[in-house]
Amino acid sequence: MGTTRDEHPNAVIFEHPLIRHKLTWMRDETTSYRPFRALISQIAGLMVYEVTRSFPVREIEVKTPVETTTGYRLAGRVTVVPVLRAGLGMAEGILEVMPEARVGHLGMARNEETLEPALYLKKLPADLNAGPVILVDPMLATGGSASGAATLLKAAGVNDLRMICLVAAPEGLKRMQQDHPDLTIYAACVDRQLDERGYICPGLGDAGDRMYGTV
Ligand code: PRP
Ligand code: URA
Repeated sequence: MGTTRDEHPNAVIFEHPLIRHKLTWMRDETTSYRPFRALISQIAGLMVYEVTRSFPVREIEVKTPVETTTGYRLAGRVTVVPVLRAGLGMAEGILEVMPEARVGHLGMARNEETLEPALYLKKLPADLNAGPVILVDPMLATGGSASGAATLLKAAGVNDLRMICLVAAPEGLKRMQQDHPDLTIYAACVDRQLDERGYICPGLGDAGDRMYGTV
């Protein structure tokens, strides 16, 4: 369902018709916060299938009504870490599909002047090395927030990290390739470029504001 491009070896880009269809509704400036929230959650739910493809499993014995057979369970404890605010909407869709996942929160706000991220909340499980961790933020613009979040998670002990986002800018993917070449980023699309205010073009505007009606 996802492909890698030569110019972005660290990214898996989704080219699924349903994701494209839903993302186009999200881009539309007339789409209000209620459908916007539903759409972001639905897209994240669709992306989970690919993002979790390489998750380790362990064999278990299961007794069906007919006989005993070999079954599978996820080997580790999965943790989903949304970057507030906008990551929350995607995390909801992931949890629909994977309700057994734990949730860690990172609050990061990008300074609109300097474009530097500032951390204002960190609430994470202590044993982040107990299984795969999925960093969730729909917008990868300069990559400052994502890079900062990945650095923080690695320092907190994560050893199996991947990121899921909705719209990625080439600038953000490049920064992540430089700062965290070990990390795979799953993105619904790669847009053209950033504008002078650090917004993704064509993008969908400020994801947090559009999701929560604070425009
Ligand atoms: C947005 C977005 C990312 C960040 C991306 O959050 O959700 O966290 O900007 O930009 P970057 O790649 O240049 O760092 P924002 O800071 O606007 O906070 P919000 O979700 O609360 O609106
Ligand atoms: N953050 C957003 O929410 N949107 C952008 O276009 C860039 C950063």
